[in-house]
Amino acid sequence: MKKAGMAILPLIVIMLLFLLVHLPKVAADQLLYVGNKKCIACHRAEFQSWQKDSHSRALDNLKPGNKGDAKIRAKLDPKKDYTTDASCLVCHSVGSGKPAAPGADLTNVGCESCHGPGSKYRSPAIMSKKKYQENRAGQHKMALEAGLTEPTERVCITCHNADNPFNKGFDYKKMIEMVKHKP
Ligand code: HEC
Ligand code: HEC
Ligand code: HEC
Ligand code: HEC
Repeated sequence: MKKAGMAILPLIVIMLLFLLVHLPKVAADQLLYVGNKKCIACHRAEFQSWQKDSHSRALDNLKPGNKGDAKIRAKLDPKKDYTTDASCLVCHSVGSGKPAAPGADLTNVGCESCHGPGSKYRSPAIMSKKKYQENRAGQHKMALEAGLTEPTERVCITCHNADNPFNKGFDYKKMIEMVKHKP
């Protein structure tokens, strides 16, 4: 019995060493949601366009008293505060339940809801005007590898689907025209 125990010991040491070496790397590689504030200094026009879009106010509908009649029809409680309810936030906020940078404001449907967690691709090494001018395809590929997502129908239907208590169906061709950033 004792011998078997001793034989396991080096194995445990190796496993601990493996974890020590690899855990910090896993943490550093993790993509984090950083919030709109980290985007708007460089993307003022898209920010202004987004502000006109109902995505920028998506949290309001979770507040008590707002859209009371619609909530009653959907068998929800119009007096309840749903702003901290995870089952609603999954579609009414950014990256709900996923890793986020400390202090990030993830309220409403924000930039990263459609473009992906920004901790890496927002870096000036990737998102540089000069580098995009020189090699757009190359920079785009780098951004995708750093967590950028293409804002396609596949992204929309992670929220615009039948789990939405107010689902009225989703006509992508029509809806995409309403969210395209306008100058
Ligand atoms: C340091 C300034 C800067 C920051 C911060 C920044 N961007 Fe960018 N971003 C740029 C530049 C410059 C481009 C390239 C613009 C061009 O020439 O088309 C770009 C391109 C993009 C593109 C198109 C990329 C492609 O390859 O199709 C998206 C989408 C985008 N940014 C979203 C974001 C989001 C979301 C954030 C915040 C998480 C963010 N950016 C933060 C400067 C920045
Ligand atoms: C993170 C979830 C999420 C994603 C991703 C998302 N949406 Fe939405 N969308 C919402 C929510 C929530 C609302 C309702 C906002 C509110 O409370 O008024 C909404 C509202 C809209 C509206 C307004 C609908 C109306 O009847 O006024 C349009 C148009 C729309 N989305 C299109 C899109 C498109 C196109 C995409 C993909 C490019 C997309 N959305 C991606 C959650 C999302
Ligand atoms: C699967 C994603 C999803 C979930 C989960 C979700 N919503 Fe929404 N919600 C949406 C979308 C998308 C819209 C925009 C309406 C549309 O286009 O169908 C919306 C619209 C609304 C509206 C406006 C309805 C209207 O008629 O104007 C209210 C209020 C609302 N949601 C509250 C909630 C509450 C409260 C919860 C949690 C109990 C919740 N939602 C959960 C996606 C979701
Ligand atoms: C509902 C989804 C959605 C949200 C939210 C969203 N975008 Fe976009 N974004 C798109 C789509 C779709 C495109 C490509 C079509 C187009 O050009 O508008 C795009 C394109 C872009 C581009 C490429 C250049 C351009 O203007 O076409 C940039 C940069 C960008 N978005 C930044 C942002 C920033 C910054 C925010 C937050 C303030 C944001 N987006 C919020 C869907 C979204």
